[in-house]
Amino acid sequence: MAALYNSSLFSLVFLLLIATAIAEIRSTQIRSGSRSTIPFDEFGYTHFGRLNLTVTDISFSNPKSGPEPVLSELGFFLVTREAWQHVLEQLQDGDIRCTLHSDLVKRVFTFDQLQPSARQFTTSFSVSDANQFTLVFANCMPNLVVSMNVHSVMYNFNPKSGQLDFLSAGKTALPAIYYLFFVVYVLMGAFWVFALYKKRLSVYGIHFFMLAVVILKALNLLCEAEDKSYIKKTGTAHGWDVLFYIFSFLKGITLFTLIVLIGTGWSFLKPYLQDKEKKVLMIVIPLQVVANLAQVVIDETGPFGENSYTWKQVFLLVDIVCCCAVLFPIVWSIKNLREAAKTDGKAAVNLMKLTLFRQYYVIVICYIYFTRVVVYALETITSYRYQWTSVVAAEAATLAFYAFTGYNFRPKAHNPYFAIDDEEEEAASEALKLEDEFEL
Ligand SMILES: *[C@@H]1O[C@H](CO)[C@@H](O)[C@H](O)[C@H]1NC(C)=O
Repeated sequence: MAALYNSSLFSLVFLLLIATAIAEIRSTQIRSGSRSTIPFDEFGYTHFGRLNLTVTDISFSNPKSGPEPVLSELGFFLVTREAWQHVLEQLQDGDIRCTLHSDLVKRVFTFDQLQPSARQFTTSFSVSDANQFTLVFANCMPNLVVSMNVHSVMYNFNPKSGQLDFLSAGKTALPAIYYLFFVVYVLMGAFWVFALYKKRLSVYGIHFFMLAVVILKALNLLCEAEDKSYIKKTGTAHGWDVLFYIFSFLKGITLFTLIVLIGTGWSFLKPYLQDKEKKVLMIVIPLQVVANLAQVVIDETGPFGENSYTWKQVFLLVDIVCCCAVLFPIVWSIKNLREAAKTDGKAAVNLMKLTLFRQYYVIVICYIYFTRVVVYALETITSYRYQWTSVVAAEAATLAFYAFTGYNFRPKAHNPYFAIDDEEEEAASEALKLEDEFEL
């Protein structure tokens, strides 16, 4: 357990640092001090890509009142990640003095092109080699401070349909993917309502809670699909991102609460929560608020936003604490059931519950591990063109988890906990004794 979390913590820290966000239209205000390069945004281009760049309110200040700024040493360029490594090597080897002068970058604009005494410019740059590029500002004058407002628009052009596509090449399929999963969850919800109606005499409170979780998940997917399809068409989310954040937050809280409630056996094993189980909820719910806030900041400021790094760390830490916290109630339940099995004589009943909870424990761990680690790994190892695969993997894993939970804890008219004959009871007692000997 501890090892698993240590390794996943490490991979998460590592992977989150290089995870990318969806590029769209972005405005940034910058003041370049000692930083010689400032990355803005990343975008996967097809063969028909374009970058429109508008920079306003440019001003220079030279604190040490040195020589006049050499304007050809200031400017914007596009570079791929692989090329960037080589540019840094060139710089180290002394082949070039300024990243802007490397032959491996695509110069978009150097400030010597600026009209005399102009404080702004607009440029449109077309990209015809398909690749993932980062827009970077370089300032090779060590003492010069530049401040300006940068407005960048990156998009691809579809020559067949004549439409613009503001989603990065690997993410342009996302709206369709989210709509598809939305439909699946709607069907799942309908099926669940049907199951509840059919077994209405053995329905508990938890079953309605599960319905709420599925509905929130569906709404969350719908908002995400709308959000992405607006960005795809226009470059901005038109407010759908706000709804998306709200439903993400509600979905996050209800899902973690559901895992805790099922873990404690609430409503189908016992009607109340113990104090320590309530405490877990009191930790998880506020932490989810923090996690969602962090997510909003990370998404809205882009991969190179000012405090992105800190917020990623916060998100990571909070997420891991939540994931660990929800496991405790399941562990407590397993412990209680094992003790009860030894004393109350209903060995078979308890053994069945025990198996169910152990399975659930394993599945929750797999789910957490897959969605937190495997998905991020996929995101980094796949080429920019296949970034959608990590979304499909995450959504498929989540769907499988919902389906498993629903199936295992579905309402049952014929409750298996209470219909057990003597033979089964004896076999179960034997099994428990064996288990004790080996301390499984
Ligand atoms: C980008 O700039 C070009 C040239 O000025 C212009 O024709 C095009 O409409 C602009 N694209 C967007 C999406 O603003």
